[in-house]
Amino acid sequence: MKKRILTGITTTGTPHIGNYIGAIRPALEMPKDKDESFFFLADYHSLIKNKDSDDIKQSVEDIALAWLSCGLDPQKSYFYRQSDVPEILELSWILNCVTAKGLMNRAHAYKAATALNTNDPDKGINMGLFSYPILMAADILMFDSTHVPVGSDQIQHLEMTRDIAARFNHLYKPLLTIPEPIIEDKEKVVLGLDGRKMSKSYGNVIPLLDDEKKLKKSIMKIVTNSLEPGEPKDSNDCTVFDLYKNFTDKEKITEFQNHYDEGISWGDAKEILFNVINEELMPIRAKYNELVKDKDYINDVLRDGSNKARVIAKQKINEIREVIGITNIS
Ligand code: ADP
Ligand code: TRP
Repeated sequence: MKKRILTGITTTGTPHIGNYIGAIRPALEMPKDKDESFFFLADYHSLIKNKDSDDIKQSVEDIALAWLSCGLDPQKSYFYRQSDVPEILELSWILNCVTAKGLMNRAHAYKAATALNTNDPDKGINMGLFSYPILMAADILMFDSTHVPVGSDQIQHLEMTRDIAARFNHLYKPLLTIPEPIIEDKEKVVLGLDGRKMSKSYGNVIPLLDDEKKLKKSIMKIVTNSLEPGEPKDSNDCTVFDLYKNFTDKEKITEFQNHYDEGISWGDAKEILFNVINEELMPIRAKYNELVKDKDYINDVLRDGSNKARVIAKQKINEIREVIGITNIS
C-alpha cells in the first residue's frame, strides 16, 4: 500500500536533538518508492505559546533549514508552512464543530497547564491551547495522511485525531482517512540537559545546528549524579546513556555499558557521547552552513511547497464542504 507520511514541528525556538530523533530522522528514513511525504512548519501552532513575531520568523527559518540540512528533498516531498495552506484552518473550524469539548478537557498539555494554577484553573490559558489537538487533526486529515511519525509525547494527539476523524465519518460520510502514529520508542522521550523531556519550552535542549564547540559545551552540561570516577554507574534512567543509544549500534551500546560497570568518569562518558553525536551531525552542519547563506532559497522552496500542497488541500476541502452542506456558489 502506498503510504502518505506526514509530520510537523512547531516553530518556537531552535530545532533540537529531541526533534531530530523523535520526528525528523524517522520521517526522512521512512518513505519508500511510491510513498508520498508531507513535512511542514506548524507556525499557527506556535502562536499559542509565542507572542514574539521576530522569534517566530527566526524559528521558521531555523526549522526549515534543519529539515533541508537533514536531507529533505523538496522535489520529492511536500514541504510547506502551515499558514500558507489556509484550507487547514478552514478544516480546523469544521472539526471544532464535530469535536466533543470533553475530549479536549482530557488533553495532557491543557491539563498540565490548568494543574499549575491554584485558584483560577483557566488563568493564562488561551483557546488555542485548549483546541490545539483539533488544529493538529486538521493538519493530518487535510492530506489523507496514513502514517504520522512523531515522538512518544504526541501519542494522545494522534489518538484524538483518530477519534475526531471517526466522528466526522460517522456524522457525514467516511471521507477522512484514519492515520497510524509511527513512534520510534514508545516508552521514552529524549531527555534534556536537566533530565526532563528535552523541549524548547523547558530551555534544556541540545540544539541540532550548533557548531562543534557549542555542541560539546551543551553535552558537558548534562546533569549527572555525583559518583566519582572508578565507581560503577547505573545506565538506567541515565540521560547520557539514553542519548548514546540513539546514535549507535548494539555492539557499541554493550561496550558503553561495560564502561559504566567499570566506573567510567562522567567527563569521559560525555566525551564518548559527544563523538558519536558529532559524527552524525557533521554532514548536517556542513549542509546547513551552505544553505544558510541563501535566504531566497528557503523562501522559494516554501512557496513552491505550499503551491503543491494546496492543489491537494483545495480538492479535499471541496469534498468536505460538499458533504457538510457548504458548497461553493457556482
Ligand atoms: P518541543 O517540545 O521542543 O516544542 P515540538 O513540540 O515542536 O518540540 O516537537 C516536534 C516533533 O519533535 C514532535 O514529533 C515531537 O514528538 C518530537 N519531539 C520533541 N521533543 C522530543 C523529545 N524530547 N523526544 C522525542 N521526540 C521529541
Ligand atoms: N504537535 C506537534 C508537536 O508539538 C507538532 C505538530 C503540529 C504535528 N501538527 C502536527 C506533528 C501534525 C505531526 C502531525 O510536537
